Amino acid sequence: MDVMDAIGQRFSVRKFKSYELEDSKLDRVMEAARLAPSARNLQEWRFVVVRDPQMREALSEAANGQQFVAQAPAVIVACAVTDEHVMSCGLQCFPIDVSIAMAYITLQAVEEGLGTCWVGAFSADKVADLLGIPKDVIVVGLMPIGYPDAEAPPKKRLSLGEIMFEDRWQA
Ligand SMILES: Cc1cc2nc3c(=O)[nH]c(=O)nc-3n(C[C@H](O)[C@H](O)[C@H](O)COP(=O)(O)O)c2cc1C
Repeated sequence: MDVMDAIGQRFSVRKFKSYELEDSKLDRVMEAARLAPSARNLQEWRFVVVRDPQMREALSEAANGQQFVAQAPAVIVACAVTDEHVMSCGLQCFPIDVSIAMAYITLQAVEEGLGTCWVGAFSADKVADLLGIPKDVIVVGLMPIGYPDAEAPPKKRLSLGEIMFEDRWQA
């Protein structure tokens, strides 16, 4: 699949079919994350893939009751093992690096006929407790993944003219 096709077809899936997720597909999706770029090639990302139905239910509760988290056959919990290094631009590497890997996951998922949704509304403490994640590891995001049971809505996005400036910032 063309990269732009995958970008165009991806949307936040919040309803999943009850099909199992094949290991081979999950492996390819996670391989996409593994190959992502990261600052200083630190690769601070770690992923807990949760398939256990009771744990998914508990994760859904920790995610403000968002039911689709429990409904998806797997939830990828993206974490960072990090010294919280700050780049000279003033930003921390780890949220950026983990986010890039998560974005790669979303696109490879499309190639596999799967859907994902980034879930940022969750209690990091609750998720860490549930999964036995050590205190020095940061939970960055949850990503339910499975076969979509929804159609892509039209994309609501700013136009290129609104987000892209030439040579100088334009107010
Ligand atoms: C950092 C981040 C956090 C998000 N958190 C949630 C969330 O907790 N629950 C949810 O349903 N969608 C969440 N989303 C999905 C966005 O609402 C969605 O990406 C946006 O509305 C654009 O829609 P699209 O993904 O279908 O193109 C999140 C997306 C991002 C990037």
